[in-house]
Amino acid sequence: MAHLPVVLLALASFATAGPALRPRQAITSLSAAQIAAYKPYTFYAAAGYCEPATTLAWDCGANCEANPGFQPVASGGDGDATQFWFVGADTKLGTVIVSHQGTDPSQILALVTDSDFFLDSLSPTLFPGLSSSIEVHNGFANEQAKTAPQVLAAVQTALSQFSLKKVTIVGHSLGGAISLIDSVYLPLHITGVTFQTIVYGLPRVGNQAFADYASIGSTVTHINNKEDIVPILPGMFLGFHHPTGEIHIQDSLAWDTCPGEDNESDLCSTGDVPNIFEGDESDHDGPYDSVLMASSC
Ligand SMILES: *[C@@H]1O[C@H](CO)[C@@H](O)[C@H](O)[C@H]1NC(C)=O
Repeated sequence: MAHLPVVLLALASFATAGPALRPRQAITSLSAAQIAAYKPYTFYAAAGYCEPATTLAWDCGANCEANPGFQPVASGGDGDATQFWFVGADTKLGTVIVSHQGTDPSQILALVTDSDFFLDSLSPTLFPGLSSSIEVHNGFANEQAKTAPQVLAAVQTALSQFSLKKVTIVGHSLGGAISLIDSVYLPLHITGVTFQTIVYGLPRVGNQAFADYASIGSTVTHINNKEDIVPILPGMFLGFHHPTGEIHIQDSLAWDTCPGEDNESDLCSTGDVPNIFEGDESDHDGPYDSVLMASSC
């Protein structure tokens, strides 16, 4: 991974060069077909809330029935000390799916607003070769570490069992944070496949170096619903930043792509929700194109 510091240096100098040198990208609305293409992944994120026994049997109700061809490989977690997760294959979409359970608004808000958290480097054992300047919320890092080796083994099994070359990592809320850390973790251990990450109601997970690293290759999409307050927490003044790849669902239900990191346009979360008083935690669970998180298992 010797080339990575060079990439990060390049990104850092790019950032300090100022907005004038950023690619000029407009905020654009997705077409109905583009919105619809996210829906299978939205159901996979919602299914992350279901008991592991039901996702392993792919019999978890509406969230499973929405993707009838899914072939489960492994599942785990207890929904208490460890968030639920599952891994399997969707051969129609041509990808291994990794899904992590989220949590309800009050619990995620406690995690991102209590005073106990801090930014910390990722474990060199789980993240060999990763620069120690990359730091994440210690609570999110702990959650990811609890399931990391099992998820990695299941992804390797699924890739070989179904001869797939792609991995898609999904999750909502805390599950989105775990998935974003997985998006850094899994490629350090698996080569020769492409990765994409599609998460919903994502809090800010790490520092600027983490956000820049997670933005490399533009493989991350984070979809935020209306005035959800979770995506603006923890605050940037605490050193937390989002990677690129935000899609913001407007009150009009348009899905708009937000260029850059933490775009301050009022069409994007950071600009639309300038402080927690202007946010609405009831927007956190969706609906994301009619799919409601958390409530459907
Ligand atoms: C936000 O989006 C606008 C497009 O409307 C773009 O010009 C601007 O550079 C973006 N901001 C950031 C911080 O990337």
